[in-house]
Amino acid sequence: MAAPTGDIGLIGLAVMGQNLILNMNDKGFNVVAFNRTVEKVDRFLANEAKGTNVQGAHSLEELVSKLKKPRKIVLLVQAGPAVDAFISKLEPLLEQGDIIIDGGNSHYPDSIRRTKELEAKGLLFIGSGVSGGEEGARHGPSLMPGGSPAAWPAIKEIFQKTAAQVDGEPCCDWVGETGAGHYVKMVHNGIEYGDMQLIAEAYDILKRGLGVSEDEIADIFNKWNKGVLDSFLIEITANILKFKDDDGEPLVNKILDKAGQKGTGKWTAINALDAGMPVTLIGEAVFARCLSAIKDERIRASKVIAGPQKEPFRGDKQQFIDDLEQALYASKIISYTQGFMLMRETARDLKWNLNYAGIAQMWRGGCIIKSVFLGDITSAYHKKPELESLLFDDFFNKAVHKAQPGWRRVIAQAVLWGIPTPAFSTALAFFDGYRSEVVPANILQAQRDYFGAHTFRVLPGKENEKLKTGEDIHINWTGRGGNVSASTYVA
Ligand code: 6PG
Repeated sequence: MAAPTGDIGLIGLAVMGQNLILNMNDKGFNVVAFNRTVEKVDRFLANEAKGTNVQGAHSLEELVSKLKKPRKIVLLVQAGPAVDAFISKLEPLLEQGDIIIDGGNSHYPDSIRRTKELEAKGLLFIGSGVSGGEEGARHGPSLMPGGSPAAWPAIKEIFQKTAAQVDGEPCCDWVGETGAGHYVKMVHNGIEYGDMQLIAEAYDILKRGLGVSEDEIADIFNKWNKGVLDSFLIEITANILKFKDDDGEPLVNKILDKAGQKGTGKWTAINALDAGMPVTLIGEAVFARCLSAIKDERIRASKVIAGPQKEPFRGDKQQFIDDLEQALYASKIISYTQGFMLMRETARDLKWNLNYAGIAQMWRGGCIIKSVFLGDITSAYHKKPELESLLFDDFFNKAVHKAQPGWRRVIAQAVLWGIPTPAFSTALAFFDGYRSEVVPANILQAQRDYFGAHTFRVLPGKENEKLKTGEDIHINWTGRGGNVSASTYVA
């Protein structure tokens, strides 16, 4: 039998799989393709992959036999049980040191589990975020691999050449151990939800507040796309707004205002709650989708709940549009600040050694949130890898200060108009809370102690005989309660 020539195998010939194969083939790698419905393999070879070096396999045995060792097999199948099913079918066919790579949107706890299970059997596992949709997969996605460190040298060249390149640097690097790759992809998706919601709110303010047409909003977004907001999502939203149906009406006006979601944003928000990190903007973005989904109830509410009387805008329209650009920029800075805070906390918890400059670089190109802005984040973390928060970086600190007056004016105006801006507003509320040395949690602690003897600590400098530093104190607030405090526990 001839020696195997395949550099990498790929299972799952849906749109992402097909495009990733063609991309890897273009970069000079020999790919072996397999699909559960095997006719799809032949169709792919006879059509999209015609004239390429891509090889087909009609069984997992054939796939494995065509791969050079250590074998590298990418799964691009639906996240969940399908991944485990393929892994258990592959396991008996593979040898020590072979690598299974899951490129789907798997939940990171599954990737932690799979890495451990496969390593225990002498195999290696990579859970890799793949972002960029069809276009990215075909011409250069953002790839976020994590898992078994020993697998990285074997896949590095293929992954880094297949990924998007920005300024000669690949948008792919080693993320970290076990589930770190899928974790970072999950946070990417959460941030994607946030960016999308911010753009939707800007559109709503321009349309319902200022009364600007779709074409004009597209022009505004195109202009923003040449400045600090230069990004894929702003660019495609401008294109979307320009797109007309056959009758000349913007197609976007015919789309039902109920947002779908597959769950990665929700996972990020749940992770933030579990980690105790105030990732408020992603949370609001998820809830905004939930509110959109209860359309029938909103229709009923719209008939019986009135908002404020709409006053015409009397200010300087261009100034307001410039303010809106700044509001979006500042909110975006907050969202990424929160996202990186969350990653730092999880990395601490799970003992992952995350490289934040590397993550920002991976997101600079190829993926859905790609932007010039991520270049500035890359620089901030290059300057100071242990940066506590983006808001402590000079560049972002100045940017947010500059944006602040316009940001506040936009939110104030939207409130007066009765236009909801959950993402803009929560970003500003976070900003005002984060920069406050004192927040009103003293009241919360007092309330907890008053009704449930949950105790509180004393503020430095305010100690006395009764109020001792470092002690959990309970006060008998009413003179009726006892002096016994409740035991502490963390829910
Ligand atoms: C990407 C995207 C992608 C995601 C879709 C839809 O990075 O290419 O994040 O992975 O699945 O954007 O996500 P929702 O259906 O949850 O909006």
